[in-house]
Amino acid sequence: MILPIVAYGDPVLKKDSEDISKDYPALDQLIENMFETMYHAKGVGLAAPQIGLNIRLFIVDGSPFADEEGEEPDPRAVGIESFKKVFINPVIEEESGEIWSFQEGCLSIPKVRENVPRKSDVLVSYYDAEWNLHEERFSGYAARIIQHEYDHIEGVLFTDHLNPLKKKLIQKKLKQIAEGAITTDYKMKFHKLKR
Ligand code: NI
Repeated sequence: MILPIVAYGDPVLKKDSEDISKDYPALDQLIENMFETMYHAKGVGLAAPQIGLNIRLFIVDGSPFADEEGEEPDPRAVGIESFKKVFINPVIEEESGEIWSFQEGCLSIPKVRENVPRKSDVLVSYYDAEWNLHEERFSGYAARIIQHEYDHIEGVLFTDHLNPLKKKLIQKKLKQIAEGAITTDYKMKFHKLKR
């Protein structure tokens, strides 16, 4: 089932999310719905707050980053073609490496893309969908996607990383999104339109 994606301006995107337990109701179905929603919206990651749930869960599939044919192999894309994962109760244990900037977007903030500086490597512990515990290192695009989605479960959006001038420049667009004055190819939920 495709779920509506919560738009910028909803307090659910600014809240800290909570860990879940193994008996969380209908978790498999929820994860399936999140993948369906993400693919439909052509995203590479989706966090639970974006569908209105403040729980520490996000999914990723970085394979669209692997679709650059005929170009020099991009070291940041190593392994990205098979980077499809579920992260439950994740903890970023460590961020390291060089800071690099990349133009990020977000399904909750359509049509806004800005450069965000982040460190190149992460060490993250998490449970997968079968509740196996992992501690794994990621770098390049994979790390970038994890950092972005992890921010979501901490109540942080990529726009929060922008400097005051950049923020000011996109303020009007953000206001339009919050007010539902935008069109998207996927279904969204606008906090201000709730009655
Ligand atoms: Ni996002």
